[in-house]
Amino acid sequence: MEYMSDTGTSPTGATASLADLRNLLAEEPELDEVSPQEAAAVTDETVVCWCNNVTAGEIRTPLHDGTACDLESVQRCTRATGGCGKCLPMVAAIVNVELSRKENASPR
Ligand code: FES
Repeated sequence: MEYMSDTGTSPTGATASLADLRNLLAEEPELDEVSPQEAAAVTDETVVCWCNNVTAGEIRTPLHDGTACDLESVQRCTRATGGCGKCLPMVAAIVNVELSRKENASPR
């Protein structure tokens, strides 16, 4: 991966137009771009929200201890997704996997 300077020039001399950079920043994350298998494979220690330094374990714990019951309440209690929003697909996938696990583990 290359990183651009403030002027849009990479250390190797590649350039990007301002419009390209704006388009890149404006991309909305796709909620279905992280599969349940990918979300389940993320270890508890892995940081999944870099803006607010939230790990996968910190996403899972409130779902299992009753502090949170859905994506919105996980977002509220962990602050995950509260910055740039790029982690939303992974956070949503982890929440969905954990809610499925919890539902399957419940006595019927
Ligand atoms: S990485 Fe989670 S809000 Fe930016």
